[in-house]
Amino acid sequence: MSYNLLKGKRGIIFGALDENSIAWKTAVRVHEEGGTFVLTNAPIALRMGTIKNLAEQTGSEVIPADATSLEDLENLVTKSMEILGGKIDFVLHSIGMSVNVRKGRHYTDMNYDWTTKGWDISAVSFHKVMQTLYKADAMSEWGSIVALTYMAAQRTFPDYNDMADNKSYLESIARSFGYFFGKEKKVRVNTISQSPTPTTAGQGVKGFDGFISYAEKMSPLGNATALDCANYTVTLFSDLTKRVTMQNLYNDGGFSNTGVSQEVIERFTEE
Ligand code: NAI
Repeated sequence: MSYNLLKGKRGIIFGALDENSIAWKTAVRVHEEGGTFVLTNAPIALRMGTIKNLAEQTGSEVIPADATSLEDLENLVTKSMEILGGKIDFVLHSIGMSVNVRKGRHYTDMNYDWTTKGWDISAVSFHKVMQTLYKADAMSEWGSIVALTYMAAQRTFPDYNDMADNKSYLESIARSFGYFFGKEKKVRVNTISQSPTPTTAGQGVKGFDGFISYAEKMSPLGNATALDCANYTVTLFSDLTKRVTMQNLYNDGGFSNTGVSQEVIERFTEE
């Protein structure tokens, strides 16, 4: 269902790799709601993924950018404003990667070069994106910036490894930059803390299948899907949430506030 919530709004969407990506579903929903946007991803991901199909489906252009490169980001912001015909109203940062997770390195035996790379891609890139937009004065007043995070930033999930630390860092950047973006440019900045979701990044976490079914059983409303996340993001990009900023917003079916569920108790009750 479409409500035209984003009619006339222009944006940039980072991180659509394939059809499972949360950014992919978000792009489709934003398009349905009348928004126009530029799609971007790291050059290697553009070669491996299927983003061209999404660009055709949504009438969008694709601009490669490694989100850790200021040069790439400056080029992306300038070109996006040219292509879209004005300042930017919404930005989705849907980027995450840990080399330690990818290479199966345990949290107590980190390779710190990989740790540094992971936090640069997963957290500092969000600062770099915002600083580039801020310096170029590229955001419209009452614009909205969203990044995606996970509850391992607040509570320990052992196999989430250094991504937990990266997500804490990301959420802190949202609050800190949100202050300045709000004060100076009337732009809001939030993170959505999403349920485990079967995507390339999600499935890279060890024991993901157990992880996702446990969360499903613990959440009164069940896990939020990628489409649920896309819909929530649409509301945050719309004019209906103008003064929501510097928040970490849970889209998790109630998981984060549930101590234990009946289903989980039953699994541990001896007959
Ligand atoms: P995904 O694998 O489809 O998306 C991750 C994206 O990050 C990919 O498109 C990848 O190319 C991009 N990326 C990696 N390095 C980059 C770089 N240097 N520059 C630009 N882009 C780069 O997976 P998903 O799940 O859609 O991930 C999106 C976001 O959602 C991530 O921040 C992830 O941590 C977050 N999230 C995912 C959850 C899950 O269970 N899948 C749960 C909660 C949050």
